[in-house]
Amino acid sequence: MAGLQRDFVKEKAIRAAAHWKMVLIDEQTVLKALRTVIDPDLKIDIVSLGMIKDLVVSDGKVKFTLELTTPACPYNKSIEESTRSAVESLPGVKSVEMKVTARVWSAKPVGGGFPNVKNIVAVASGKGGVGKTTVAINLACSLALMGAKVGLVDADIYGPTIPKIVKIVQPPRLTENKKVEPARIMLGIKVMSLGLFVDESTAVIWRGPLVASAVKQLLTDAEWGELDYLVVDLPPGTGDASLTLAQTMPLTGVVIVTTPQQAAAVIAAKALQMFRRLGIQIIGVVENMSYYVCPGCGRESRLFGASVTDEMAKQLDVEILGRIPLTSEVSVFYDEGKPIVLANPSSPASKAFTEAAKNIAARISVLAHAGKAKAGAV
Ligand SMILES: Nc1ncnc2c1ncn2[C@@H]1O[C@H](COP(=O)(O)OP(=O)(O)OP(=O)(O)O)[C@@H](O)[C@H]1O
Ligand SMILES: [Mg+2]
Repeated sequence: MAGLQRDFVKEKAIRAAAHWKMVLIDEQTVLKALRTVIDPDLKIDIVSLGMIKDLVVSDGKVKFTLELTTPACPYNKSIEESTRSAVESLPGVKSVEMKVTARVWSAKPVGGGFPNVKNIVAVASGKGGVGKTTVAINLACSLALMGAKVGLVDADIYGPTIPKIVKIVQPPRLTENKKVEPARIMLGIKVMSLGLFVDESTAVIWRGPLVASAVKQLLTDAEWGELDYLVVDLPPGTGDASLTLAQTMPLTGVVIVTTPQQAAAVIAAKALQMFRRLGIQIIGVVENMSYYVCPGCGRESRLFGASVTDEMAKQLDVEILGRIPLTSEVSVFYDEGKPIVLANPSSPASKAFTEAAKNIAARISVLAHAGKAKAGAV
């Protein structure tokens, strides 16, 4: 009898311990575990960054949303995995329901207008023909493919190319309040280009102030709606269009496109310094036509010799965001109207464009965080 009683008491104690273990798992315990997950770019834990939303812990079941700073961060997958395993490895956790979303952070200067556009990214170069338009379109498509809301402005007033090389799915429309609803291209990307409104021969004769006001209008007359990234394809050099944009638009920053040659790097450096003098953030450099990939054997060769971009980036203290190979596939889209990242996503060039887009998105999150920290918001 005494033995039976002893067993009964023991079992009760085990149940109580199990119960006690269950109650031990509460929101604070989960948050403590989540604080061990550090965003590799921002070097801060995901709880402090406000990335954990709607946390509910009940009966050992943990439910929450992980809100990433951009759908395009190169570390998203690893953050997701570390977050899940940090919670799953807690004793007493029976199940984890983790929803993953992304809300792009804005690194745009405050008070400059465009309240619904989170980031405006200009793509510029010193030299012409280095691949700005190619980079701008593939960047816009890569970001849209990853789930971001994207717009694209063809600010090349003298030679608007975007409507010629990508298929317009929906033409621009005049809204009731006399604004322009941008045209739509693939993936729902919104596009504004002077080429949608006037033919090239008209634009070519324009000079200084007219160019400046045309660029301003392209951006401000458009009803953009909500956008995560507005990519602006600039004409080459540091002329009127680039200056107007830099001085009047709340730019998140500029991506400079260059090629491995000395001549391109020297002019790219000049453009970069001009933007810097105007107080514009340099997001980084994309080196286009970095190497040639033989379509037959896949071998890489450096057509332009050793690259000088590393040296330039080091001297000017900027990041190299990506190196895009020179392949005939990239240029073919000019004829077919289909950017390489859509036409052949597994090609080396597409992978390079996607990586560059992710690095740009990650740099913008870092800039946004620095801005928030300055404003005392984190
Ligand atoms: N990585 C690449 N591989 C092969 N061809 C490329 C690559 N990048 C760009 N091109 C080709 O080079 C030409 C110039 O590219 P693009 O029009 O993008 O340059 P750009 O800098 O915008 O020129 P512009 O200064 O005239 O605006 C195009 O024919 C394009 O298809
Ligand atoms: Mg161009």
